[in-house]
Amino acid sequence: MAACLLAQQYVGAGACGRCHNSIASSQEKSGHARALAPADARADWEFGSGTHAKTWVKQLDEKHYLELPQSWFRQTNRMGLTPGHTTQDGVRYRVFDPGAQILRCFSCHSTGGPAVREGGKIHPHENGVRCESCHGPGAAHVKAGGGKYNIENPGQYQATAINEQCGNCHRQPGADARWDDPWNVRHQPVYLAESACFLKSGGKLSCLSCHQPHQALSRDRGAYAAVCASCHAQVQHRVKVSGDCIGCHMPAVAASPDLSFTNHWIGIYSAGPKLRPRQ
Ligand code: HEC
Ligand code: HEC
Ligand code: HEC
Ligand code: HEC
Ligand code: HEC
Ligand code: HEC
Ligand code: HEC
Repeated sequence: MAACLLAQQYVGAGACGRCHNSIASSQEKSGHARALAPADARADWEFGSGTHAKTWVKQLDEKHYLELPQSWFRQTNRMGLTPGHTTQDGVRYRVFDPGAQILRCFSCHSTGGPAVREGGKIHPHENGVRCESCHGPGAAHVKAGGGKYNIENPGQYQATAINEQCGNCHRQPGADARWDDPWNVRHQPVYLAESACFLKSGGKLSCLSCHQPHQALSRDRGAYAAVCASCHAQVQHRVKVSGDCIGCHMPAVAASPDLSFTNHWIGIYSAGPKLRPRQ
């Protein structure tokens, strides 16, 4: 019952877009908005926008869901074994498993909380990471016709609190701190929190220093370098450097032949594996 009442307080991106039109139309194109969609004939659900990959999930029966063994990878533009799988059987999940793993997939990839209905069908309230994932339920704000006081604005948070909010899904600083596992590099808050840039800049560096929360991931290396320059106006390299700041100080790490992620532990890396900075 509590869950139903809470769900009613989530009005959906369509309602926000009536007044915040340009934000809604750019957010709609982001990986966030497209993180979950209904699938074509092969399954029920498509997870992943395709920025990196897509994985399919289908309902088997009242009690079980199956994560399919073959995923699509953008980097290599091919189908391959889903990360974590070792056979072509797929991975079965019980809907009401104590760890609630399959429900947790939906929690991070949708907005307003998933519900389980008749026949064990999982119903996300709204597909993808939309407005109210970050701003909280918006019914009161909409009812009041907008205004400042009944909606969360993370723009007013300190850097650490922003990193924690993003960490609700991207993992919290301190989580999975196993620096030898390349899969953990995709947990950006964990890695950023280790950087001298974060630790020594007096709480100025957050995810929002480099990412626009309402837009698709930017690939503009010059724009990222400009953020570096805002704190490192003149770097006196002792070694001769060419190329962009990101390539050397936030290197790509291959988690598999099909997937790589950006190491958010900003630092000085030597040749070889780029899991953590030298020293
Ligand atoms: C009826 C029009 C309307 C709707 C619908 C609406 N907003 Fe707003 N919103 C406003 C107005 C007006 C402001 C105040 C702008 C200002 O004062 O600068 C505002 C401000 C905001 C702010 C900034 C608050 C602050 O503290 O500065 C956020 C965040 C926000 N809206 C998010 C949302 C979200 C999310 C939704 C959907 C759940 C939504 N809005 C729906 C009109 C609306
Ligand atoms: C409700 C969970 C959730 C929250 C909260 C969240 N994210 Fe995400 N984020 C995701 C998921 C899921 C993806 C993967 C999208 C995909 O399928 O490619 C993602 C992808 C991204 C991407 C890549 C976007 C793209 O267009 O490919 C960026 C950048 C990002 N998140 C930054 C942030 C920042 C910054 C915050 C905090 C302001 C944040 N995220 C909060 C779940 C979340
Ligand atoms: C704790 C929140 C969380 C849970 C639980 C979760 N995801 Fe994600 N997922 C994310 C975030 C955040 C990203 C974006 C990672 C990135 O690009 O760095 C993501 C990315 C993805 C991607 C795109 C590939 C990639 O790594 O970027 C797929 C596919 C995916 N998730 C499927 C699933 C499936 C299936 C489940 C359940 C078995 C699941 N996720 C559980 C948060 C979550
Ligand atoms: C990934 C988290 C995330 C999602 C999803 C998200 N926002 Fe935001 N939003 C933020 C953050 C963070 C800020 C503060 C930005 C800043 O101050 O730089 C913000 C600021 C705002 C503001 C006030 C400042 C401004 O830019 O005008 C409005 C209004 C707003 N968001 C509306 C929306 C709407 C509407 C949606 C859905 C279409 C949405 N947001 C989706 C994180 C998010
Ligand atoms: C908010 C300010 C800020 C931003 C933005 C920033 N840094 Fe830093 N960075 C710092 C501070 C402060 C230090 C610590 C300097 C010291 O120890 O005296 C630092 C240290 C470093 C170091 C030395 C690391 C080490 O472990 O000793 C490198 C390399 C570096 N930054 C590169 C970058 C690059 C590349 C970017 C852009 C991707 C960047 N920084 C963005 C503030 C920042
Ligand atoms: C100093 C700049 C900087 C900061 C701060 C930063 N990022 Fe990034 N982020 C990048 C760059 C550069 C890329 C790679 C862009 C590309 O692919 O060209 C990236 C990529 C990503 C991606 C796509 C997956 C990947 O690993 O390539 C996600 C998701 C993401 N960032 C989330 C976050 C979150 C969450 C935070 C806050 C904890 C954060 N970022 C803080 C610069 C930054
Ligand atoms: C070809 C790789 C490469 C590129 C490109 C590069 N760096 Fe570096 N950077 C290094 C190496 C190696 C060191 C350590 C040796 C040294 O200080 O010359 C370093 C050191 C640093 C330091 C620490 C200097 C100190 O005083 O201890 C900062 C800050 C830094 N780089 C920022 C940047 C920024 C900002 C950019 C982009 C404008 C950039 N770097 C481009 C490889 C690179």
